[in-house]
Amino acid sequence: MKRVLLFVLPILIIVTTVFTFFGIIQVAFEKERLLDDLKRKTRSVAESMELSVKHALLSGNRKDANYLAERFQARERFQGCVIYDAQGKVIAITPRFESWKEKEKPYLRSLIEHKLTRGEPEQFQELSVYSYILPILNDDGTTLGLVEIIHDTAYVFTRLGALWRGISITLIILVVLILLITFLIQRHIFVTPVQRLTEWFLHFQKGETNEKHPIKEKGVLGRLANEVEQIALSLRVARRSISDEAQVRLQKEDLWTESKLRNFIHAKLGENEFFVVSNREPYMHVIDEEMAKPQCVRPASGVVTALHPILCACGGMWVAHGSGNADKKFVNSKDKLGVPSDDILYILKRVWLNKEEEAGYYFGFANEGLWPLCHITHTRPIFRETDWQMYKKVNQKFADSIIEELPTQSPFIFIQDYHFTLLGKMIKERRPDATIALFWHIPWPNPEIFSICPYQEEILEGMLGCDLIGFHVQNHCNNFLDTANRLLESRVDTEKFSVVRFGKETFVRSFPISVNGYSTQTDRKSEPLRQVKKIKEEFDLQDKIVVVSVDRIDYTKGLIERVLAIDRFIEKYPHYKKKVVFIQLAAPSRTHIKRYHDLISEIDELVEKKNWKYLEGSWKPIIYLKKHFSPEDIYPYYLLADICIVSSLHDGMNLVSKEYVSCKKDLSGALILSQFTGASRELTGAVLINPYSIEEFADKIRYTIEMPLDEKKKRMENMRRQVLEHNIYRWAADIVNELVALKKI
Ligand code: F6P
Repeated sequence: MKRVLLFVLPILIIVTTVFTFFGIIQVAFEKERLLDDLKRKTRSVAESMELSVKHALLSGNRKDANYLAERFQARERFQGCVIYDAQGKVIAITPRFESWKEKEKPYLRSLIEHKLTRGEPEQFQELSVYSYILPILNDDGTTLGLVEIIHDTAYVFTRLGALWRGISITLIILVVLILLITFLIQRHIFVTPVQRLTEWFLHFQKGETNEKHPIKEKGVLGRLANEVEQIALSLRVARRSISDEAQVRLQKEDLWTESKLRNFIHAKLGENEFFVVSNREPYMHVIDEEMAKPQCVRPASGVVTALHPILCACGGMWVAHGSGNADKKFVNSKDKLGVPSDDILYILKRVWLNKEEEAGYYFGFANEGLWPLCHITHTRPIFRETDWQMYKKVNQKFADSIIEELPTQSPFIFIQDYHFTLLGKMIKERRPDATIALFWHIPWPNPEIFSICPYQEEILEGMLGCDLIGFHVQNHCNNFLDTANRLLESRVDTEKFSVVRFGKETFVRSFPISVNGYSTQTDRKSEPLRQVKKIKEEFDLQDKIVVVSVDRIDYTKGLIERVLAIDRFIEKYPHYKKKVVFIQLAAPSRTHIKRYHDLISEIDELVEKKNWKYLEGSWKPIIYLKKHFSPEDIYPYYLLADICIVSSLHDGMNLVSKEYVSCKKDLSGALILSQFTGASRELTGAVLINPYSIEEFADKIRYTIEMPLDEKKKRMENMRRQVLEHNIYRWAADIVNELVALKKI
């Protein structure tokens, strides 16, 4: 539109100037014509009265004179008549001009003497009038008197006003027509062909059409179209060869690496874009209270640990809740930013939630409802109707935000976790061509437990909007199929492992999640060995057996049980006093929820109590570091740890155990792992514990410390092989492979 205006503005200026110029001339002519007309009219009226006035003057009959003057009172428009005697004295006047008598008329005498006529514009009160005076002569040529006709000139100006209005309306119509025609012409000759060329370009370079470009003309546009055609062709060829190369490379490599996954995704998904959705974002910008300036933080989250390397490998877009208090400062006008900031590999799109939405959807329904429902830790789930409504609203908000990003053809959307049970269905309703997978990062309970959820049907229906639902372990898949079978009108196919509802089939599979080569990534960015030395000095760890745990502060992680087991271990085996140190790295989490808030105080108190119980000189058994740790901060602790303890009461997988193992390149270290984690199925080299059994837990700590070095190495080697072979790249590839096989995308 701006372009059209620029083009049309000079034309409009010229048209307006010409119109105004001719308007002025036309009005001036019209004015002259009307005034001339008036003069003639006034003169002929005066002349038509000459005889009657002569008789009245000769007879000296005032009555006749008055009659003649008063007849003008009834005339339309403002007209009047004045009759003067031979001395110039008024003898009759139209009543509405009564005050005309008072007006000085020095010219009367001369008109009488010289028998002259006079026609001039005059002012009467507020009005402009035209006065015409005619001398009345006797037969002998003497002057008997005068007759004056007065006529209002206002109608002349009214007519001129109407003329101006007409000219202006014509001008406006002309301007609008010029604008409209210009707009239509430029649309026809420029916008539409360019739009059609763009459309064609998008489809041709992706290989979706083989037609020739749509521009038929030969001129400048035709030449441009030919150039565009060349570029589209080269792009198409380049894309094809990348995809072919990817296929070839794929067949050569054994271990799953970042580049193998990249090739694999290119080969399998081609140009289908990759979208990940999760509640937690991979990068948060928060204002550091001490330094009062924004800092970029990597949140403590299994989802982030797992998905970030995949996005780094494949690119695409990650849509997540922008929960950092400085997040808004770092996005563009579309709420997006490229990450990592120093080497942009994918796009993060932040979705904003207000306090009520975050409270209801995240803290309320997701974390006070679904989280305890799915974890068997004997914490009662709380379901509030208001939270559920907010949860639905936020799912819809995310669906809208994703849908506006989707390309026109077959996008691939990978939804994460229990925060978005309704998202699959919401997206599918508007984009049935999308391929949607949901990965459930936490356990799935049995049908009896799930059936206490008041919104069970809507949740299951929402999830079944997806094409594939993944869980960490087979047991969770079985629980899900049982749940769908019992609580929903659906057909469960136990051979294909799928649920069919209203003709839509959803496949259910287990994909044990994993980590990337944790050490390779962190090695680049820090100097871990220097850090190890520093930590050892700071906490006086030389010659000590160091046991490390890394957790979010969550009641499912078994932190209390761990402290109790350490206490029991020292109580039972006091010769380990001053020889063993337990370091707990603990990141506060979901602190607005009372259960979490109380847990923090409970752990603080317990650690304090147990440390005080065993305090000897500078030694205390537990070093409790309560703050957020980045992956780079955690890495040296893994390196120096002789043992790592993971004591979750229930955990979908637990990636800390896999991170620890993948850091131990020298095969040192040992893992004590809860039997209630998904990881315990894979990490068979770990020493398994039941964290509820404090006595057994304490004994397993001793058993691990005293385990012969060879056995430790063997176990570690076995676990490392498992983690390296089943790393996060393989996990992502397995999911994509499954989808491709199921959906034939
Ligand atoms: O791994 C389970 C999980 O709930 C993830 O979904 C989440 O990213 C992580 O724990 C941390 O929780 P939050 O994002 O609520 O801090």
